[in-house]
Amino acid sequence: MDYIIIYSSETGNTKKVAYEIFKSMPEGTKIYDLQDIQGDVKEKNLILGYWVDRAKPNKEMLHFMECLTNKNIVAFGTLGAYPDSEHAQVTKKNVAEILEPRNTLLGQFLCQGRISSKITEMFKRASSDSPHRMTEERIKKHQEAAKHPNEEDFKAARSFIESILNSQ
Ligand SMILES: Cc1cc2nc3c(=O)[nH]c(=O)nc-3n(C[C@H](O)[C@H](O)[C@H](O)COP(=O)(O)O)c2cc1C
Repeated sequence: MDYIIIYSSETGNTKKVAYEIFKSMPEGTKIYDLQDIQGDVKEKNLILGYWVDRAKPNKEMLHFMECLTNKNIVAFGTLGAYPDSEHAQVTKKNVAEILEPRNTLLGQFLCQGRISSKITEMFKRASSDSPHRMTEERIKKHQEAAKHPNEEDFKAARSFIESILNSQ
């Protein structure tokens, strides 16, 4: 199957992962920033990269996904939360619900990505009774996210796509 990669990235984390996946793709594979896509995409097989916003793909990619039908799709994303967290599981479930059954979802991958300082500062400013207040646990998560995506994530992303390509 020939794929095209389309990613959406605000601060660069998802773009980095997209280009790592691109390295594992056959020669001639095309990669696009979603911002540069105009109108419908004719290709049948898509690898879509998003960043997580409230357990869903960022709104630009969410809107794009909602308009797709009859595609084979591999989805990947970066998020501030841990990839083995419940939040990550909910995100994957939401992605599946957005895409299926109009499309075939072939696989999903998530890894952590550095959270922008804008968001970290917002949490720090939240009042002590706010659900967004900066707890010890949250500080730890932000500090860990700041180290991602790293070489290990890149390797995992490449292995993920290679296993999908090899299964076809
Ligand atoms: C406005 C905003 C909302 C976010 N919401 C979430 C969220 O709900 N869950 C989460 O795990 N990470 C969240 N994040 C963190 C990003 O998903 C994460 O840092 C991601 O790697 C950013 O990707 P990018 O560099 O490709 O833009 C949020 C970041 C921003 C800026």
